Amino acid sequence: MAIGDLSKQHLSLSVDGDRLMRRINSLAEISPIDGGGNCRLALTDDDKYGRDLLISWMKDCNLDVLIDAIGNIIGIWNIGQGAPVMSGSHIDTVRTGGRFDGCYGVLAALEVIETCQQSGIKPSRPLAVGIFTDEEGSRFAPDMLGSLVYVGGMPLEQALDVVAIDGAILGEELLRIGYAGTTPCPGLIPHAFVELHIEQGPMLEANNVRIGAVTSVQGISWQEVVITGQSNHAGTTPMSLRHDPAYVAAEITVFVRNLAKQMGGHQVCTVGKIDIHPNLTNVVAAKATITLDVRNTDEILLQKAESQIADFFVGLAKSEGVKITTRQLARFEPVIFDERVIDCVEQIAKAQGNTVQRMPSGAGHDAQMLARVCPSGMIFVPSVKGISHNPSEFTETIDLIAGANILLHTMLSLTTLDADSDN
Ligand code: GLV
Ligand code: MN
Ligand code: MN
Repeated sequence: MAIGDLSKQHLSLSVDGDRLMRRINSLAEISPIDGGGNCRLALTDDDKYGRDLLISWMKDCNLDVLIDAIGNIIGIWNIGQGAPVMSGSHIDTVRTGGRFDGCYGVLAALEVIETCQQSGIKPSRPLAVGIFTDEEGSRFAPDMLGSLVYVGGMPLEQALDVVAIDGAILGEELLRIGYAGTTPCPGLIPHAFVELHIEQGPMLEANNVRIGAVTSVQGISWQEVVITGQSNHAGTTPMSLRHDPAYVAAEITVFVRNLAKQMGGHQVCTVGKIDIHPNLTNVVAAKATITLDVRNTDEILLQKAESQIADFFVGLAKSEGVKITTRQLARFEPVIFDERVIDCVEQIAKAQGNTVQRMPSGAGHDAQMLARVCPSGMIFVPSVKGISHNPSEFTETIDLIAGANILLHTMLSLTTLDADSDN
């Protein structure tokens, strides 16, 4: 896709970087944690305070604010005709989150709209910013839950019944914080969707490149694994008579790491959560509950990893005399973004004097769900030392502003993209 006329006319237009940074820092004042990050798990009181702040900024920009039945917030600048070009992301965080993951994309989208409004640009169709519920999946699985429901990938009733890691029910939490909205799901189909995000990995920094034109998102498989054994006395039970869930959890952790190493390429495997019961020094555990996060850019290879893990469980349960049960928490196939959107991001990044590379995303994102219903893509900026899901997550201000300027011109260009949304 060629850079659209509207964007070409205004290529020198840029966002207000100070305002963007001020908003990023103000949002980070809600639920701060040591090290400069945030703990704003989905649908907690802190998530509500963040949402309230975002809505106040949307209203300052005279956006129409819709809250849908899964709590997604869509702010629309109602200008021109037809379906909006939408951007956005999420403001929930993992328990030890940084201040940029998700928040940057939401605030940059708002900044784009405010910049256009103040400079007198009149796009031919509306521009919108979306804040999607529970992108992280840290409190309620699966991840990207709000955007999944938004595009009709999960029935609303099923999503409202999801139980959190702390036992709360999603629908009740939405009501409690006042974000069970009335706008129906699935929601308004955008003309196109583009999400700006920090890379959360090391590639851009390592290659000394400023901008990633994201081509795809790797497939994700999450499962909860419960291992039940025989709890017993740690001093009196001979090693040969043990059925120890703690040991089995460790074996699984080692197995998946070796599997990823053997498979190579984009295969990654993580055991991120281990709960041992009763969790006492002198007791052989009764039960271990662990989570597995397995990802690959290639669906066939992802399935191969899943099946090797399943086979390993069968053998391990037998050899250790334990019971192993699994529950799928999330399963999404890899997603390929729209070539026209990728092209547009790449051209605009270059036209603005940035280095750019095409790359897949290792992390999951709301854009992968929007890709089911409209032409979609993403823009990445570098993460210092590739660190994310960690309070020390950091991106240089100059890179954050460069990314927001690419988002600005990408959104304007996409207003002229031929698509099906107006049929
Ligand atoms: C979302 O942040 C993910 O886990 O990729
Ligand atoms: Mn994110
Ligand atoms: Mn994240």
